[in-house]
Amino acid sequence: VRRSPRAQEGRRPPGPFAWPLLGNVLQLGRLPHLTFCRLAQKYGSVFQIRLGRQAIVVLNGEATIRQALVRQSAQFAGRPNFPSFRLVSGGKSMAFGRYSEQWRAHRRMAHATLKAFSTANAPNKRLFEQHVAAEAQELIEELLLRSAGSAYLDPSPLFTVANANVICALCFGKRYSHADKEFQALLGRNDKFGQTVGAGSLVDVLPWLQRFPNPVRSVFRDFKVLNQELHAFVCAKVAQHRLTYDPQVTRDISDAIIGHIEHGPAGAKEGLSRDYVAGTLTDIFGAGQDTTSTALAWVLLLLLKYPQLQSQLQAELDRVVGRARLPIADDRASLPHLEAFIYETLRYTSFVPVTIPHATTDDVLLDGFRIPKDTVVFVNQWSVNHDQCKWKDPHLFDPGRFLDAEQKLDRDLTCSVMIFSLGKRRCIGDQLSKLQIFLFTAILLHQCSFRPNPTERLTMDCIHGLALKPLPFTVSATRRDTALQSCW
Ligand code: HEM
Repeated sequence: VRRSPRAQEGRRPPGPFAWPLLGNVLQLGRLPHLTFCRLAQKYGSVFQIRLGRQAIVVLNGEATIRQALVRQSAQFAGRPNFPSFRLVSGGKSMAFGRYSEQWRAHRRMAHATLKAFSTANAPNKRLFEQHVAAEAQELIEELLLRSAGSAYLDPSPLFTVANANVICALCFGKRYSHADKEFQALLGRNDKFGQTVGAGSLVDVLPWLQRFPNPVRSVFRDFKVLNQELHAFVCAKVAQHRLTYDPQVTRDISDAIIGHIEHGPAGAKEGLSRDYVAGTLTDIFGAGQDTTSTALAWVLLLLLKYPQLQSQLQAELDRVVGRARLPIADDRASLPHLEAFIYETLRYTSFVPVTIPHATTDDVLLDGFRIPKDTVVFVNQWSVNHDQCKWKDPHLFDPGRFLDAEQKLDRDLTCSVMIFSLGKRRCIGDQLSKLQIFLFTAILLHQCSFRPNPTERLTMDCIHGLALKPLPFTVSATRRDTALQSCW
């Protein structure tokens, strides 16, 4: 790579004093994105901290993040050379892989395949919708069954299985029952993944912690095991697909990727060996189920917190969809209040507050600061979604901010919510997840009403990792038509 002479100019970003050995670890706090916002007020939107001996540049605010991830996209598209990153997806991860020509081909293939099976045109888009609708109906049955006798249940494990089933159907043509203990166990270890790879994780920056028993060492051990288990689950599915592969029929994403890498002319040219089939599928399956289920958990928590919004959204659904059929993707444009509610949930919770860590691929100059090649970069998405200059009262939950005077969705403003990142590393599941969250929320609200447990406090406190998850809460669901009938 040719070094830009300008990138040698400029000074290093400012930042707080870093202690020997630990650096700024003790200053991070439980929610690093909030600490970063405070430090940005003092040092500006580009500043530097140290975690252990690792220098890390933190980017805040829309202008700076766009300047880096969009205008200097290749220079900011790297990933750190962290030991934990090399363990993901059998070492053949696109999401955690370093930026290169081969990586670009890998990402292009993964992105195009995912899109073709979910949000590209009919018939696959319709098939995707059918998968989500079927899972939503199963989910409703489970919620109602477990709410019988006005009981309260923890909805999060059900959301995890329902969302994983959608992605499992796309990838492998298979779904699992909510009672399947092995599938539940496989998915139940997600939190340990996020705690290892999220910003502020100490696993990779304080390697000496691996030498004696402590919580960081056990998180890393769990991380190794869960990656092995997830990858083994995917490898078994790939092996079954290879045995029954028929070039004339592409049943699912596994077939499409096997076709591209093992039977097409492109795979070898792009340097993607057979191992990349399972690597890509582990990435998609891993990234695909945990994030959307977390989004749904926040959606439900906010519906419980704001019951008047729950009723308004149900009224909008009844007006637009009616009671004779379920909501479908084509209703989206006619349900601006529901769309506004979902965008506000994404903005307000910013539940992926900092992206997966990036790294510079060259010496760069950003906002007048010199950042050397291979510097670890944290991108603080929270700072964009809670910027007082951009959002009025950003600390308030107000879906109305996305509606104009005629109650139409303000599309430009929705594009300002940053939760899928930007540039060359932008999430490849963004369109799929928005549609999936819309369909699940619309179908659940159309069919059910949700009541909070009066003995619990509805709090926005969360468990921190790569994604912020609500603390466990319980809910009771009733079928809306039954409720209406009993009123009559
Ligand atoms: C990466 C957010 C759902 C696949 C990412 C990143 C974020 C993100 C913030 C990191 C981008 C960066 O490092 O700059 C989300 C959110 C989701 C979601 C908020 C749901 C609401 C999905 C789904 C899939 C998926 C459903 C797949 C089916 C991926 C992949 C990457 C990624 C493969 C790695 C991209 C790369 O490194 O080039 N996502 N994601 N995500 N996401 Fe998502």
